[in-house]
Amino acid sequence: MYDIYNLACDVTQCGIKVFDYFLGYRLPEYICGRGFINRLPQMLKDKGAGKVLVVTEKALIDLGTAKKMLGPMDEAGIEYALFTDVEQNPTSDNVEAGFRAFTDNACKSVVALGGGAPMDCAKAICAKAAHPRMSTRQLHGILRVHKRVPLLFAIPTTSGTGSETTLASVITDSKTRRKASINDPVLIPKYAVLDPELTLTMPPGLTATTGMDALCHAVEAYTNHFYNTKVENIMAVRAVKLIYDNLYKAYQDGSDIDARENMQIAALYAGRAFTRGCVGYVHAVGHTLGGLYGVPHGKAMAILLPHVMRAFGPAVHKRLAELADACGITGSSDAEKAENFIEWIEDMKRKMNIPEKLDMIKDEDTDQIIKWAMREANPLYPTPVLWKYNDLKAFIDSVRE
Ligand SMILES: [Fe+2]
Repeated sequence: MYDIYNLACDVTQCGIKVFDYFLGYRLPEYICGRGFINRLPQMLKDKGAGKVLVVTEKALIDLGTAKKMLGPMDEAGIEYALFTDVEQNPTSDNVEAGFRAFTDNACKSVVALGGGAPMDCAKAICAKAAHPRMSTRQLHGILRVHKRVPLLFAIPTTSGTGSETTLASVITDSKTRRKASINDPVLIPKYAVLDPELTLTMPPGLTATTGMDALCHAVEAYTNHFYNTKVENIMAVRAVKLIYDNLYKAYQDGSDIDARENMQIAALYAGRAFTRGCVGYVHAVGHTLGGLYGVPHGKAMAILLPHVMRAFGPAVHKRLAELADACGITGSSDAEKAENFIEWIEDMKRKMNIPEKLDMIKDEDTDQIIKWAMREANPLYPTPVLWKYNDLKAFIDSVRE
């Protein structure tokens, strides 16, 4: 039933749509190619980066991936401090510790190496550098930074998050466990290096879930569409087609460098699509699962995506049919094409050993999950269907094992 709540959300979204035209959406200046990580030191020098804080994960040190970047930096005499205290779902405590490392080492710039966790943590450290007296919680929201931040270089080692091109930094509050984002165009990294060789060490499970995260960004941005310009629509369609053609190849054969390269580009396009087009209830519900239970982001996305799209019903048939057309998925009507597209996602999940439903939700948490999801999504995300409390309750009940 359309009521005052719907009206308030619609009016707010109209305001955001107008406001969006004045925001500086952009891609980072990026270079893309095999072995291009060797060009990073010169880039740091050319851009006057000074001493940098490298934000990464311990796992990338252990795997030897970080060495591929740090080796050339050492050879070129680039000064840096290393910060690796980043959890899988980065917390406000991680951000505070990273900010201390930034100031204690008199760093001027930040290099984020890794997936979404180090990149989001690095963005939040940059936001803190602009506002040292504000807590991470105070920075959560839209346009709270709005000030010059240190130069940020993004070096993705997964192909999913798109954080190298987005304005968002998703951080879990260490006290409340609520996951929320800092959104500001100043947090879009200035520079990025996409080197597919850095993604070769990703195990199949991570390849699957991060790739599904990228798919989720593109599908949610494309089905939302209210804020989109032509750019976001084109980026989303290209990303979906690249994922359709390459994700399973990269999962089956991690050394397939062409598939790896295409997935990196897909993640970048999908990230650009949703940074204006926004995500939707897949992310709003999925973020709560990351915060409360530590569910990896990509896994939560992969589980929820087909269920959310099917629950939207006819409201998304046309848009999903267009994505099906782009991939060559056939059907005799928009509804049938949309269903076949959803079934392709489900088939990918099965083939890549991703669970069909959620098995971690506790009864006593349901109310909190719904409230946090509503707070994140409504009214900011222009979802194809507006879900209120009872809609989200019914949805969550339907995706629990
Ligand atoms: Fe995501």
